[in-house]
Amino acid sequence: MGEKMRLDRLLAECGEGTRSEVKTYIKKGRVSVNGAVVKDNGLKVDLAEDEVIFGGHRVVYEKFRYFMLNKPQGCVSATRDGLSATVLDLLNGEITRDLFPVGRLDKDTEGFLLITNDGQLGHELLSPRKHVDKCYIACVTKALEPAQIEKFRQGVDVGDDKLTMPAGIELVTGAAATPYEVAAAAAGIIRRSGATEKYGESMAGFQETYKVTLQEGRYHQVKRMFEAFGSKVVYLKRISMGDVCLDESLAPGEYRRLTEDEVEALRR
Ligand code: URA
Repeated sequence: MGEKMRLDRLLAECGEGTRSEVKTYIKKGRVSVNGAVVKDNGLKVDLAEDEVIFGGHRVVYEKFRYFMLNKPQGCVSATRDGLSATVLDLLNGEITRDLFPVGRLDKDTEGFLLITNDGQLGHELLSPRKHVDKCYIACVTKALEPAQIEKFRQGVDVGDDKLTMPAGIELVTGAAATPYEVAAAAAGIIRRSGATEKYGESMAGFQETYKVTLQEGRYHQVKRMFEAFGSKVVYLKRISMGDVCLDESLAPGEYRRLTEDEVEALRR
C-alpha cells in the first residue's frame, strides 16, 4: 500500500480545480475510482494503486515536479516580484504554487534554471559542500593573464570574508570569423535570428569568452570574479548544473520537464 490522500485534495493538487470546485465535480458524479463513481469527497485514495478518472483522463499525483527553463534576460529568479516578470510567470499552465527556482540567476543572465518543488534536492544542489558543478559561458571585456587564470582557479578575493572556492576556467575558442561569433556560438545564441541586434549593444567592449565552472553560488559571483581582474562580464549564460545540460532546443523563455534520467543524474 502506498501513500494515501483525500480524493478532493488529490484533484485540487493535480490542478483539476479549486478545492470547492472539485468537491462539486465529485458530488455531481464526475469522478470515478477504480471504475466506480465516487461521491465521497473525503475518500482516501492510494496514490500508487488507485485509478482516479476525471474528465476522461487519469489523474496522477506527482509529489515532486522538475522543470528546466531557459531563462531569458529581463526576468527575475524569484517566486514573486512587484515590478518585473518572474521565472514562474513563464511556466504557463503549470501549477506554480509550490514551485521555486533553485538558486538565482541575475536579471540579465540567461540559461539553465531548475524549477521544482523538491526542497531537499534544491538545497543539495546549491550547498557548496555537495560540490555540484554549475557551468557558465561568460563573455568578458578583457582576457585574463595566465597568472590571473591560475588565481581564478585557486580562489579569488571578491571582497567577501573568504576567497572563492576553487573554480574551473577555460578559454572558449572556435573557427568563427569574429570574437562575437565565437562567443555567440559558444553561448548558443547565433542560431536565432535577430540575436546580433538583440545582444550587440549590451555586449560593447566584448573581447573574450570563457567557460567557468563553480561549485558555489555567491551573489553576482562570476561577474565579481572577473571584476577582481578588471574584466567586465557583458554576457552570461548558465549551460549546466551537475550532469544535466541546458537543452539548446529551448529558446530563451521556453521550458520543459526534466526526464527521469535527468532527475536521477541530479540526485547522484
Ligand atoms: N554569477 C553571476 O555573476 N551572475 C549569475 O546570474 C550567476 C552567476
